[in-house]
Amino acid sequence: MRLMWLELREFRNHALTRIDPMPDGLIVAVGPNGEGKTNLLEGMFFLFSLSSPRASTNAPLVREGAEAAYARGEFETLQGRVLVEIEIPQHGATKVHVNRSPVRRRRDLRRQVRSVFFGPQDLRIALGDPSKRREFLDEALVALWPLKESVITAYDRTLRQRNRLLKEWDGRGSPPGLEAWDEELVEAGSALTLARADAASRLATDASLEFEALAGYGLSCEYRPSVSADDDLQGAFRARIADRRHDEIVRRTTLVGPHRDDLELAVRYLGARAFASHGEAWAAVLCLRLGLAGAVERELGEPPLLLVDDPFSALDPARRDLTGVRLARRGGQVVISVADEADVPAPAHATWDVRDGTVTTRSA
Ligand SMILES: Nc1ncnc2c1ncn2[C@@H]1O[C@H](COP(=O)(O)OP(=O)(O)OP(=O)(O)O)[C@@H](O)[C@H]1O
Ligand SMILES: [Mg+2]
Repeated sequence: MRLMWLELREFRNHALTRIDPMPDGLIVAVGPNGEGKTNLLEGMFFLFSLSSPRASTNAPLVREGAEAAYARGEFETLQGRVLVEIEIPQHGATKVHVNRSPVRRRRDLRRQVRSVFFGPQDLRIALGDPSKRREFLDEALVALWPLKESVITAYDRTLRQRNRLLKEWDGRGSPPGLEAWDEELVEAGSALTLARADAASRLATDASLEFEALAGYGLSCEYRPSVSADDDLQGAFRARIADRRHDEIVRRTTLVGPHRDDLELAVRYLGARAFASHGEAWAAVLCLRLGLAGAVERELGEPPLLLVDDPFSALDPARRDLTGVRLARRGGQVVISVADEADVPAPAHATWDVRDGTVTTRSA
């Protein structure tokens, strides 16, 4: 998939940034701290996903003093051309048009265009608590199969309702109606477990190969579900719930299910969380994102737009060079940002200078 052109208006510090045409291959946005490189990549990602990798609400995306931000762009995909136009108001819902028709559901955009974003905040996937790794698994799930977002939301809803029942009950024995919620949890939880397992296995091999190419030794990436079984997952789930019945009543919360999953990352066969160095943890999460991009490419038959914000800062010079070379060799468009001119990879196909929210294409 190719982004043919892009326009950001009143987006963060970009009053008006128009890039037309978008180059192919490895593109490097370069400029000092605070000039708008990450903002540019964030704006591009928003065009694909209607969400920001670093803000959970719209308000910070709108340029100070403006009422709304706008992002527009046109894609060339195997399925044809897709024109995306987005209005992001300070307050209220994002408005989206695809090929000039309004689109209500996020997944109706996401199933047409795909992007994978890496940024420094991803370090928490390796170093943070398991919830960060579950978030990553769910992002991977949505990037691979946008329609499966409903599997995630169905489980969240069931879990919240079952937890409420357990929390509010202070009678004897189990709260009435708990069995019905057990069954809902088993169904929604098994569906999510299977989907996460599928997503994890598809990206793990690529992630490990990427890591090995950088480091010379492996990265293992293994899904560790709360409930697992060789064949009868629902049966195993039911049995685990029965085992924990007493504890759940005492602790008034659900103790079994995908909200307790983890993704085990291990470098040199030690747990990455406890033992990896800062640079290793960084390389591991970068490789997870690259692995996801590879998996999405296999799923779609064409590469997603890969956005890599500040990939080099924690890498040693040899790993920087290797990463640059490998990013340039991938098919499709790859946009990276760097603050240091010396970090512009030699094989880059295009360079953008970013200053005070404006982007200038450097002539070759
Ligand atoms: N809503 C907004 N309106 C105006 N300016 C904003 C808004 N949000 C962020 N900025 C400004 O954008 C700048 C930061 O941009 P960005 O994060 O893209 O920097 P960067 O070029 O990636 O820098 P670094 O190299 O430090 O990562 C800051 O100066 C910030 O004040
Ligand atoms: Mg930045």
